[in-house]
Amino acid sequence: MYTRLEEHKGQENINCQSKVWLRISLAVNIGLCLFICYLCRHVNSQEPTIFRTITKKPLEKDTILLIWLWPFGIKFDLNSCRSRFNIDGCYLTNDRELYSKAHGVLINHRDISNNLSNLPTKPRPFFQKWIWMHFESPRNTRRLEGLENLFNVTLNYRRDADIVIREQITLKTEDTEDKIFPQVLDKKDKLVCWIVRNWNEDFKRVKYYNELKKHIHISLYGGHFGKTLNQEEYNEILTSCKFYLSFENTAIHYDYMTEKMFNPLNLGSVPVALGPPKYIYDKFVPKDSFIHVDDFSSPRELAEHLKSLDKNVEEYKKYFQWRKNFEVKLVDYPTEHVCRACQYIRTKKDYQVFVNLNKWYWGAIDST
Ligand SMILES: *[C@@H]1O[C@H](CO)[C@@H](O)[C@H](O)[C@H]1NC(C)=O
Ligand SMILES: *[C@@H]1O[C@H](CO)[C@@H](O)[C@H](O)[C@H]1NC(C)=O
Repeated sequence: MYTRLEEHKGQENINCQSKVWLRISLAVNIGLCLFICYLCRHVNSQEPTIFRTITKKPLEKDTILLIWLWPFGIKFDLNSCRSRFNIDGCYLTNDRELYSKAHGVLINHRDISNNLSNLPTKPRPFFQKWIWMHFESPRNTRRLEGLENLFNVTLNYRRDADIVIREQITLKTEDTEDKIFPQVLDKKDKLVCWIVRNWNEDFKRVKYYNELKKHIHISLYGGHFGKTLNQEEYNEILTSCKFYLSFENTAIHYDYMTEKMFNPLNLGSVPVALGPPKYIYDKFVPKDSFIHVDDFSSPRELAEHLKSLDKNVEEYKKYFQWRKNFEVKLVDYPTEHVCRACQYIRTKKDYQVFVNLNKWYWGAIDST
């Protein structure tokens, strides 16, 4: 999330009414914003406020998940697991009085204080599992001492986490009409675009860009170029560019891939990926949906390829063939994460401990 937060801060001028939602808008990524805007309108039209405090008590058969701290301070509806994700029997709460009854305690890594003083201090009931939630790359994350033997369950984008949540390409559930393609082809008036805020001359992506720009015109946006975009403009840019530079700011991280990849796919731009090696991307997105910089011997060669696709519409169209059968599924941070965590605790009753968090999560960067 750090990356997402950093990259898109300022783009998220969501036009929602309440202050709460404005606060949320600052902290979540673009993909989620699409959803939040939708939700905002949707919910506002039905209910005066999204924050219903739970007044009813948990039922005996409910699974209680205690959200120890609001993730990134983002408050969200605690009553929507059933309506939104079809998950029954979950009682989400932030009421610490329920600690001794809670089946799960959810702790977002970024909200843990350096000295761990804001973690629960009371003895843990034998049935209670602590969930470590985290969605940033290890390089952008503080490593804290003392967490190695605290958690039972991991909630992360990595496929070897206990609960895995990530943007995905999924089979279409029904034969729905593609609202983006082929109409999007008529809207393409720019060749290559890049939106960037977080700038560092040492980043591999900045070095690559510095070479690439010598060979092809790149339309530039985002905080670094003094062109902060709101949600509408962001969508508009992605739609009107043939190619989008999906350049991650960290290179090799186990399974790490962000909305920089999935938003262009969703909105009908062809991502040019720089980040994890291609075989990692291949596990998550169709081969014919994106371009990877590693397939070219130099930025110049990549530029030549993009220019040739610009002239050949039929070749360019092939990058959209996957849309016939698949679609992008974005995720809903943090509501979906919390509901899935509760569902997991509810269904998986076995004894579980997660030891050596530091080695698992940060070990990979130590060895590179
Ligand atoms: C831990 O850090 C917080 C602020 O970061 C501070 O207020 C608190 O006194 C510290 N607690 C201990 C036990 O050092
Ligand atoms: C959860 O983890 C803690 C710390 O490792 C352990 O003591 C406890 O027994 C575990 N609880 C469950 C229900 O697995």
